Amino acid sequence: MKTIIIKKPRKKDIKKAGEIIRKGGMVAFPTETVYGLGANALDEEAVQKIFQAKGRPSDNPLIIHIAEKKELYNLAEKVPQKAERLITRFWPGPLTIILKKKSIIPKTTTGGLDTVAVRMPDNKIALALIKESGVPIAAPSANISGKPSPTIVEHVIHDLNGRINMIINGGKTRIGVESTVIDLTQKIPAILRPGYITLKQIKEEIGKARMAKRTSNKSPGMKYRHYAPEAELILIKDKTKIRTILNENENKKISIIKNIHEKNLFRKLREIKAEIIIILINGNMSESVINRLEKAASRIIKK
Ligand code: TXA
Ligand code: MG
Repeated sequence: MKTIIIKKPRKKDIKKAGEIIRKGGMVAFPTETVYGLGANALDEEAVQKIFQAKGRPSDNPLIIHIAEKKELYNLAEKVPQKAERLITRFWPGPLTIILKKKSIIPKTTTGGLDTVAVRMPDNKIALALIKESGVPIAAPSANISGKPSPTIVEHVIHDLNGRINMIINGGKTRIGVESTVIDLTQKIPAILRPGYITLKQIKEEIGKARMAKRTSNKSPGMKYRHYAPEAELILIKDKTKIRTILNENENKKISIIKNIHEKNLFRKLREIKAEIIIILINGNMSESVINRLEKAASRIIKK
């Protein structure tokens, strides 16, 4: 497939992109978190193409992106007050909420679940595209399944050129780590994936909430390996361990990274050329960064 790459999107390009989505095609676009790979969330065939293009397991559900808060009521069976509070405070923005789904959403989109994940991104191009398409857009991160999420258009092109209809450049994404995902169908709302919006901020809005246990099977995506760099990635918590690893691997090209945060995390995982990457976990790292690193790691040395 020939992929149209839009370097500097203008109105007519967004129009064309909206038309592609309406007709059942796929467009990669920027959001404030990472780039997404979008298709019409209500069109089963279109959504299937996303799973194929990414090589994504079919039981890993997609997030539906909307351009106006009121569209949530067309997708969710019931919108509890806690959901309303959260979207009033955090939308548009990097918070995804999970609610019981309406039957117009095909089960392909939700990975067979009867719940749906929805968010309203805080990015002009994304919002314009959703409005132009006239449909809610299902969009996972625009990477090949298992690879680090793309934060610049070059990463999207690297993974998906030739597999999708269009890629829209929006420069470097502002936040760099994916949205916080919170399940509001449980009695005590549970964060399934930590992100830029923290548990503390959420509690301020709705009172009780918690981090889901890592072993919880509520978020089907969590069981797969994610964000894997080409190199072997070793996480350590104690810096005296660096020496041991260096000694064990004398002839290998090793890169040691200390300064990692939301904005450079995925880029480093993609771009560092080494056989082994060592990352030192420190107290300044956010929960979301540690979460992604632990998923990306091939080895974690805790003590
Ligand atoms: O910031 C983001 O959220 C980005 C941008 C493109 O919006 N999207 C993104 O999508 O990260 P994806 O597909 O890479 O991650 C979606 C996560 C997965 O862990 C998936 O399992 C979870 O959300 N998820 C989606 N629907 C769910 C549902 N109904 N129940 C539980 N987890 C769900
Ligand atoms: Mg992803």
